Amino acid sequence: MDTVLIDGIVYSLKDLEKDCWIKIFNGALRAKDPFHNPVVSNVNEHGINSRIVVLRKADVAKKTIFFHTDIRSGKWKELQANHKISCLFYDMHGRVQIRIAGSASLHHTDNIADEAWAKSSMSSRKIYLGKESPSSKTTTPVSGVPAEFETDNPTEQESEVGRKNFGVACITTNWMEWLWLNSKGHRRASFFYENAILAQQNWLIP
Ligand SMILES: Cc1cc2nc3c(=O)[nH]c(=O)nc-3n(C[C@H](O)[C@H](O)[C@H](O)COP(=O)(O)O)c2cc1C
Repeated sequence: MDTVLIDGIVYSLKDLEKDCWIKIFNGALRAKDPFHNPVVSNVNEHGINSRIVVLRKADVAKKTIFFHTDIRSGKWKELQANHKISCLFYDMHGRVQIRIAGSASLHHTDNIADEAWAKSSMSSRKIYLGKESPSSKTTTPVSGVPAEFETDNPTEQESEVGRKNFGVACITTNWMEWLWLNSKGHRRASFFYENAILAQQNWLIP
């Protein structure tokens, strides 16, 4: 049998691939979605660096996913040096893990960054107002955000100071892997993309 039954629904490999992208797309829409906070990893001169981010957007047709970050952050500089990146999602209730690998393009002064900034809330913008770069050493434990904005959000005009520090990372997927944990036997599948077109799909032994 070349299908899998999950919660009464029969999935072919093609169905599964579509379902993965629906899950990722939804993850960007809702803060409480299990896929809203993936772990993103890249390589740097010391090895591998991983951290949680907020999934901001997924473009299903282009197989791209987006997160926002400070262009002064370690990850931005590391991704400038090496654009290879992976992204890890887990839905504890659905017991589904999705892994993505691809390359990151970095957007700072273009339309992609302008549009994302325009849509950002004032509470999101305020973290870009700090004078010191993320990861700067401090003598006391501080947020880095100017004191006047620790409790209150900046006005839109005040927030514009942060635009120069704001960037968008876009991950273009070239590999995706799905794993479903199930007491009657786990299931696993992989998908390869070439220029956003599904080029290969396989069931795998979990
Ligand atoms: C729930 C959660 C969401 C986060 N979202 C982001 C994010 O969208 N962008 C970001 O740059 N950092 C985010 N962070 C902070 C990163 O995990 C990380 O600590 C920070 O970006 C510094 O990483 P770096 O030194 O590798 O650049 C988030 C952390 C948590 C716990």
